[in-house]
Amino acid sequence: MSSVINRFPATIVVAVARNGVIGRDNSLPWKLSSDLQRFKRLTMGHALIMGRKTYESIGRPLPGRTTIVLSRSAKSLQSAQDQKELEAPTKAASQGPATPKLLYCEHFEEAIDKLPQGTHPFVVGGSEIYKLTLPLVNRIWITRILADVAGDAYMPEWPKTPNAATESSINWPPGDWKLTFQESVPAGPKDEWPTCFEEWVAI
Ligand SMILES: NC(=O)c1ccc[n+]([C@@H]2O[C@H](COP(=O)([O-])OP(=O)(O)OC[C@H]3O[C@@H](n4cnc5c(N)ncnc54)[C@H](OP(=O)(O)O)[C@@H]3O)[C@@H](O)[C@H]2O)c1
Repeated sequence: MSSVINRFPATIVVAVARNGVIGRDNSLPWKLSSDLQRFKRLTMGHALIMGRKTYESIGRPLPGRTTIVLSRSAKSLQSAQDQKELEAPTKAASQGPATPKLLYCEHFEEAIDKLPQGTHPFVVGGSEIYKLTLPLVNRIWITRILADVAGDAYMPEWPKTPNAATESSINWPPGDWKLTFQESVPAGPKDEWPTCFEEWVAI
């Protein structure tokens, strides 16, 4: 486990079911409007770092944020993206250098180097990218879905047999972290499950 001084000022943002599920068929297996709204509000104006598969499932850069996609084929994906921009320049690009909307990087450290000035990096999945960055970030925002949900993508290092009685303080994240914020949200017409939003900071 990395010590806190080796970690980047970066935040993992994840929603996880009680059984560790984070996705199904390359998509989110729940409808949680208040969680999406919080995500939008807290990440607006910043940078989102995500795996190539998560980016493909979203299908476009999210508005108002720089999207940085991690891929081992980053160079060719970036060339294709640059070519697309040349052929169909956006209004912003034709007005001179602007904050990029979409970048491809091969390494997390390269993504950190390429952050637009003044933006905070939010690592937003999926499974492979959480595994890669868990030892590297210094903050985690987790939305715990207080239900078991069927899926095929899991949070790395999630305990196999969570104790339902202590579901909102399950033994994750692994290592030295401190819980600094917790907020419960009941299920409702636009929120399929009750959830608990938590902030953890590396110590
Ligand atoms: N619940 C949540 O909060 C949440 C958030 C996001 C995503 N998800 C879910 O997570 C699932 C997708 O997760 P996933 O693990 O299959 O895919 P992923 O992590 O989104 O993307 C995997 C891809 O990232 C690239 N990659 C992985 N490790 C890398 C490394 N060390 N260096 C450079 N590139 C690397 C590779 O791209 P190349 O193959 O191009 O090399 C790899 O195929 C979906 O079901 C999605 O809905 C859930």
